[in-house]
Amino acid sequence: MYNKGYVITGLVIFVLFVTFPVWFNGLDAGPLPKPEPPPGGEKQCVAPAAEMRDSHMQLLNEWRDDVLRNSNRVMITVDGKEYRKGLQIACMQCHSNKEKFCDTCHDYAAVSPTCWDCHIAPAELAKKEAQ
Ligand code: HEC
Ligand code: HEC
Ligand code: HEC
Repeated sequence: MYNKGYVITGLVIFVLFVTFPVWFNGLDAGPLPKPEPPPGGEKQCVAPAAEMRDSHMQLLNEWRDDVLRNSNRVMITVDGKEYRKGLQIACMQCHSNKEKFCDTCHDYAAVSPTCWDCHIAPAELAKKEAQ
């Protein structure tokens, strides 16, 4: 039953297969994304940038639950200015260019949040208002 030759060949094929994305790309995942700073010139985010990079997805979920399940529409203050908790009404007020901000990272990381099926991105909003 036990055949060393097959096992080793199998293992080699397995390792080549699993590491395919690494060597196929020549160990290069392409240039790192450079999300554009807010065009409005704001200097601070709702949390430190490193924290936002790590966990903006969780924060957005917490906000959504807070607003919709707990009806907690509290204001948040960033750099002396007030924002309402929300995707369009907070994040996109500063990060008004979704393509040059959110999308640069998401395209790179191959994530496509479905939020924009319902929520309106600023560019679409501008188009609608111009009509
Ligand atoms: C099926 C439609 C739909 C999708 C998809 C969706 N939302 Fe929402 N979201 C809503 C609706 C409706 C509200 C309620 C708006 C209100 O009452 O202010 C809401 C409210 C929110 C709020 C709180 C207030 C606000 O207006 O922003 C946050 C935060 C939020 N969504 C985040 C997200 C995120 C992040 C995603 C993607 C991961 C997402 N949503 C995907 C429909 C959707
Ligand atoms: C008051 C304006 C403002 C609001 C509101 C805001 N941001 Fe930011 N955000 C900034 C600024 C300014 C930076 C850059 C901060 C720095 O470099 O220290 C930033 C940084 C970030 C980063 C890190 C970017 C990078 O280059 O690594 C992410 C991710 C992010 N924001 C997501 C969000 C999300 C998601 C929301 C809504 C929950 C949000 N921001 C709300 C102004 C804002
Ligand atoms: C610095 C890079 C970066 C920026 C800028 C950024 N994101 Fe992300 N985002 C990511 C990465 C990476 C993931 C995937 C994380 C994971 O899967 O654990 C992600 C995931 C998400 C998710 C969860 C998606 C899912 O399918 O679970 C949401 C929602 C989201 N981002 C919203 C935003 C919004 C809104 C903005 C712009 C205001 C933004 N992000 C800007 C890097 C970024």
